[in-house]
Amino acid sequence: MKRLEGKVALVTGAGSGIGRAVALRLAQEGARVFCVDLQAEPLEQTCESVLSSGGIALARRCDVSNEAEVRASVAAAAAAWGRLDHLSNMAGILRFDHFHEIALEDFRRVIEVNVYGTFLFCREAIPHLLKVGGNIVNTASTSSHAGLPWGGVYSSSKGAVLAMTRTIAVEYGRLGLRANSVSPGDIATPMSKGVKMPEGVDFSWMDRCKALAGPRPPEVVAGVVAMLASDDAAHINGEDIRIDGGTLS
Ligand SMILES: NC(=O)c1ccc[n+]([C@@H]2O[C@H](COP(=O)([O-])OP(=O)(O)OC[C@H]3O[C@@H](n4cnc5c(N)ncnc54)[C@H](O)[C@@H]3O)[C@@H](O)[C@H]2O)c1
Repeated sequence: MKRLEGKVALVTGAGSGIGRAVALRLAQEGARVFCVDLQAEPLEQTCESVLSSGGIALARRCDVSNEAEVRASVAAAAAAWGRLDHLSNMAGILRFDHFHEIALEDFRRVIEVNVYGTFLFCREAIPHLLKVGGNIVNTASTSSHAGLPWGGVYSSSKGAVLAMTRTIAVEYGRLGLRANSVSPGDIATPMSKGVKMPEGVDFSWMDRCKALAGPRPPEVVAGVVAMLASDDAAHINGEDIRIDGGTLS
């Protein structure tokens, strides 16, 4: 079923992991996808995958924390096919630290990418989305709902994304714009595989908290994002959907 036929979607973080899976899934559902990421080469690979599976995509390199680049990217996306129906904010960075050792510079960079990036894309996209009754899906995290040891910087940023999304939802809902978020947990992507843990930390307890066994590829998030982007979610606004297999805690 193609639920996004005729729609135009902008996906950030489309060069890897969840963002790439979202771009591919939205294209499979019929959307033309405008893909952005900091890394030009992986981004091109995403677009090639969309094109080779019969979809339509454009790529643009953009640092989501750079106001001028975000403004230009949203304008280019809206101009490309004359409309913008959906924004998926998937770009993000993760780091783990002992809280008492967090450097201000590290805190600042995570906030710049995860919070400013989400804010800037939402701010620039909203006027376009309002014209067509469009919608936004932001990426929060399970760490925005419960404490995540060593995740002080990251969970602070994702808590802000959750609150920002709910605010947009109630501020613009009556004008026809929906905003929701997803909260993935431990999805198998370069981010979760490559993260460096601080000295002396054993993170294996996290696996023991999982209620569902089995693989958790980025596609499990992409399917939920596609649903939220579609009219199947016409009455879902200000909601956050945890995609973490449930926990035993
Ligand atoms: N993987 C998980 O378990 C998990 C859990 C919770 C939340 N998330 C969130 O899901 C989103 C996607 O994460 P992922 O696991 O696919 O990670 P990933 O590292 O595979 O992909 C993140 C993408 O964001 C891009 N990016 C980073 N900084 C950027 C910047 N300044 N400007 C533009 N692009 C930038 C990267 O180049 C990369 O392509 C993130 O927001 C992440 O915080 C992931």
